Amino acid sequence: MLKYLRSKLFRCVVLSLAALVSVSVNLLWKDGSSELPSRRLEPLEDEQYKIISPATYKYHINHPRLCEGRRPFLVFMIPVRGEDRQARDAIRKTWGQDNPIVPDVDVARMFFIGQTGESNPRLEEHLRKESEVHQDIVYVDFIDTYQNLTVKTMMIMNWLATYCPSARYAMKVDADIFVNVPYLVRYLQNQGESSQKDFITGSVINDGCPRRNQRSKWYLSKEAYPESRFPPYVSGAGYVFSIDLAKKISWASRYVRPIPMEDVYVGLCLHFLDVQPVFSRTFLPYRNLFEIRHLEYDACTYAQRIIVTGFTPSQLLNIWTDFQKDRLAC
Ligand SMILES: *[C@@H]1O[C@H](CO)[C@@H](O)[C@H](O)[C@H]1NC(C)=O
Repeated sequence: MLKYLRSKLFRCVVLSLAALVSVSVNLLWKDGSSELPSRRLEPLEDEQYKIISPATYKYHINHPRLCEGRRPFLVFMIPVRGEDRQARDAIRKTWGQDNPIVPDVDVARMFFIGQTGESNPRLEEHLRKESEVHQDIVYVDFIDTYQNLTVKTMMIMNWLATYCPSARYAMKVDADIFVNVPYLVRYLQNQGESSQKDFITGSVINDGCPRRNQRSKWYLSKEAYPESRFPPYVSGAGYVFSIDLAKKISWASRYVRPIPMEDVYVGLCLHFLDVQPVFSRTFLPYRNLFEIRHLEYDACTYAQRIIVTGFTPSQLLNIWTDFQKDRLAC
């Protein structure tokens, strides 16, 4: 009996030691390799934060009352260039229209535009007129370049937190995209309680890492991003999040060094907040619901996706009427 107990005790000690060693090796290994940025609460230097801080930029055109007296289920936030009027008009007539596409579900939209050059009074005049008619343009005084999309996205987050905290969800979505609004609304309604807070979904990239080749469009120097991997992030073409995240991401951006890739940057803020993006997909058959390829139009294929990318304004208008009719027959 004593012998039995002793052997049991011995095994127990050995097992605990083994566990302890494995935990510490794990910790050391993770710390040593710094694959991902740490979550230290160390604010950025003013110079750095200034680049992405919404306080740096001024609104030339704004609609601060879009959400006054209403609680939209979903707000589309659409980054677009000033000259892309046709893209905006196509969206206003299709997935971003004012008439509810799903009965009793309130959906709003806002376009985000930066400056083309130092100053462009003619474009601004056009935008002002367009904005008076449609009440859906925010025009900000940063230079609207690919590298500055991170600035635009942080303006969008700040705008939501400031002017539309009564919404349930927001979607950042590019202007060349088809959005299947009925599917998206149903999908969100079916997510339940857990999706009301710290929820962000789209096409998740789990294995991203910085490109060190200077000729790459996505080149990132070791100075700008020393770590060897990116945390999981949602592809920038279109992603949906619970409205609380707009404020949390804005807050996190005070601690996360800006990089010019807006979707990775949002991923870094999520990593800092310890929020995991959710991959929206189905199995059997496998489908990425936020489709990042362009798919040949087919009503039944499109009826099973939340977004499809790669549309010109006229292509979008062309498929829309068909889709509204034909999806019901799938
Ligand atoms: C981003 O916008 C700022 C503010 O307008 C501007 O000074 C800067 O040149 C822009 N950066 C790039 C890379 O376009």
